[in-house]
Amino acid sequence: MKQSGQILLGVSGGIAAYKAAELARLLVKNGWSVIPSMTRTATEFMGTLTLASITEHEVHIDVGDHSPMDHIRTVRSSDLLLVAPATAHTIAKFAHGQADDFLSAAYLAHKGPSLICPSMNTAMWHHPATQRNLSMLRDDGVLICPPDSGELACGEWGDGRLAEAETILEYVAYSLSPKHPTLQGKKVVVSAGPTCEDLDPVRFLSNRSTGLMGFAIARALWCAGAEVVLVSGPTHLRVPAGVQMVKVRSAAEMAEAVHGHRNGAASVIMNAAVADYRPAYHPHKLKKDSFNGVLALNRTEDILATLGKDKNGCLLIGFAAETEDGIVNGRKKLIHKNCDGVVVNRVGIAGQGFESDTNQGTLIWRDGREIPLPMASKQDFANLLVTEIGDFMHDLAGIPNRDMAQ
Ligand code: CTP
Repeated sequence: MKQSGQILLGVSGGIAAYKAAELARLLVKNGWSVIPSMTRTATEFMGTLTLASITEHEVHIDVGDHSPMDHIRTVRSSDLLLVAPATAHTIAKFAHGQADDFLSAAYLAHKGPSLICPSMNTAMWHHPATQRNLSMLRDDGVLICPPDSGELACGEWGDGRLAEAETILEYVAYSLSPKHPTLQGKKVVVSAGPTCEDLDPVRFLSNRSTGLMGFAIARALWCAGAEVVLVSGPTHLRVPAGVQMVKVRSAAEMAEAVHGHRNGAASVIMNAAVADYRPAYHPHKLKKDSFNGVLALNRTEDILATLGKDKNGCLLIGFAAETEDGIVNGRKKLIHKNCDGVVVNRVGIAGQGFESDTNQGTLIWRDGREIPLPMASKQDFANLLVTEIGDFMHDLAGIPNRDMAQ
């Protein structure tokens, strides 16, 4: 996942132009050098000084504003051309190759990837002419980050809101990430988060999983080119871009969702902290005076173990959250649940496992190899893990060339 370099950020003239300032700030914060370009109409919605200050680069409006051939020079050094917001007009100009300002000329001159984030009124978005233009751009290899649905500046409801800045950032990562030859186009099911086992309409049993690790794995898989189904227990996290999200609550619902989606999957990665026990459910609130203080618990299904009984060519990866004897316990789980790999990580200490932004662990393969996964942000940890999984599948298939395809 490429996470630094230069982005040419084009801003076209819609009401969402002001959101480009927040996007530029996020890109800069994430290590990108951002060269801003605005259409003339965009400068009526937001002054150039805002983007120039945030990015510390002059804003390009017309070809030759700052020096002759500056559109050519800028695209030569840019990893990505990103347009946010992209109006219907700019999309139409790109589709038809009209080059009458810096941004549209730069688009034609750019040989690398382009990412377009449309924003407009719903009727304009759904108009066959806009959809036709977008389909032409897709055919030309442009990646489209679809707009969100919701209340629009014009007062109407529907599709057309500029995607959230975090979502656009995920699309940036996707468009610049090398695709893994073994994972590309393959379906992978990932489970994430905790499960909640309801006791009555008010209370439940759960654990400290936040879902961060599983969501990061889903993001890394999407960036590597996989088709991802993310089955998650309750979390406060934003749905990652590009994945099929299945929200569940209990271990039983998670089991049903994972088994329901595993058909045709090349791999299932069980990262969820699934509750091992559930209480009997009381439809009415338990009153303290009539409760004897003892909870009767029943075992839930061990989803990973069930999957291990009938793998049918599916690569099965488990997680082992351990407070002690991690490698020994991880190996036991790998054998007992018939997994292909188990990621062991320590819980109960700061900086890894539950409720932490970072993680560290060891990936144990069924052939006995132990791969250390060094302390890193959960996203970097996930990126590394996904590359290891892709390489393992690659070796299993006996494919000689391990190079990543672009
Ligand atoms: N797992 C599962 N279904 C369960 C419990 C766990 O699929 N009911 C999966 C987890 O998603 C993880 C692996 O099994 O991939 C190991 O989970 P972990 O909680 O570390 O261990 P348990 O098997 O539950 O054993 P213990 O709690 O005794 O360590």
